[in-house]
Amino acid sequence: MVTMHSRTRLSVFLFIVASLPILSHCRYESVLKRKANRGSARRFDPTRVTQLSRSPRAFLYKGFLSDEECDHFINLSKGRLEKSMVADNKSGKSRESNVRTSSGTFLAYAQDEIVAEIEARIATWTFLPVENGESIQVLHYELGQKYEPHYDFFRDEYNQKFGGHRVATVLMYLSNVKKGGETVFPKAEGDSSHQEGDDDRSECAKRGYSVKPYKGDALLFFSLHPNATTDQASLHGSCPVIEGEKWSATKWIHVRSFFTQPLKIDVCADANDNCPVWARQGECDKNPNYMVGVNKTGGHCMKSCGLCSVASS
Ligand SMILES: *[C@@H]1O[C@H](CO)[C@@H](O)[C@H](O)[C@H]1NC(C)=O
Ligand SMILES: *[C@@H]1O[C@H](CO)[C@@H](O)[C@H](O)[C@H]1NC(C)=O
Ligand SMILES: *[C@@H]1O[C@H](CO)[C@@H](O)[C@H](O)[C@H]1NC(C)=O
Ligand SMILES: *[C@@H]1O[C@H](CO)[C@@H](O)[C@H](O)[C@H]1NC(C)=O
Repeated sequence: MVTMHSRTRLSVFLFIVASLPILSHCRYESVLKRKANRGSARRFDPTRVTQLSRSPRAFLYKGFLSDEECDHFINLSKGRLEKSMVADNKSGKSRESNVRTSSGTFLAYAQDEIVAEIEARIATWTFLPVENGESIQVLHYELGQKYEPHYDFFRDEYNQKFGGHRVATVLMYLSNVKKGGETVFPKAEGDSSHQEGDDDRSECAKRGYSVKPYKGDALLFFSLHPNATTDQASLHGSCPVIEGEKWSATKWIHVRSFFTQPLKIDVCADANDNCPVWARQGECDKNPNYMVGVNKTGGHCMKSCGLCSVASS
């Protein structure tokens, strides 16, 4: 059922954007080709991946991002950070909460070539298509800041309308943390023998299976079982930072396409060089979902469609 539904949605989506000069998929492909020609793209290298846990299903990719890519994410986000929110259990609306004390910002899809290339790399690793992902969220944890253990799947109905449950999360570490800031899975089962004797871990991290943040590493874990039920072992949190600071970037991936849904993007920019041309051809009105997004948020051509004052307010 789910597969049928997503196919239908995808073909509708492709039909809608087919009248644009370039398909958005091609944007990713052309970025990849250009990168490949220049030889600068990090190739997907499965030998760098290890399985950390069976319950939840969790994997670590050493050196998923280069140092420059990590710094690039941080540079894009500095000065745009806002207090992080949580989704309310019942209504699904964003609200502040003391269980989550970091600050963060959402980037735009394919905001630039580097972001687009990393989004494509995530799709290659997870076998999950780019359009099932939310746009990347960059998070900053200062001294003492944390995210108490929580699930990435939703309990409310509202958030599941957009692409269904979150099936997987890719958590990229953008900085080293001197002490603390581990990702902890309090309900994980299985082998944590390699963690024994690791006195470097914070007390919080010892309360479960934990992953120490190293700049460039990426953690992939699944919030759903293969039979599509929610995995209670996927409970996870970010331990308080004890020394230093922590930067991370998250890609949440849904079971279906998230692409035409409203996005929490607070950047006002064109995501495609062709935006000015498309806008002059009337695409802002003809293809509003793609160009300006649903309810004028999260479109690909906000600047050319003249919505910058709306987006930045
Ligand atoms: C990030 O910003 C700093 C300070 O502006 C600059 O020196 C550095 O080159 C930038 N790094 C990247 C990867 O953009
Ligand atoms: C959501 O509800 C669950 C129980 O249903 C509770 O354990 C959890 O703390 C709640 N989360 C928030 C952020 O209120
Ligand atoms: C789904 O899979 C999980 C993990 O294998 C299992 O524990 C659970 O009982 C299954 N649920 C159903 C409804 O089959
Ligand atoms: C768009 O805005 C209208 C009016 O505020 C609201 O009823 C509708 O649910 C919104 N649509 C989406 C997809 O957010």
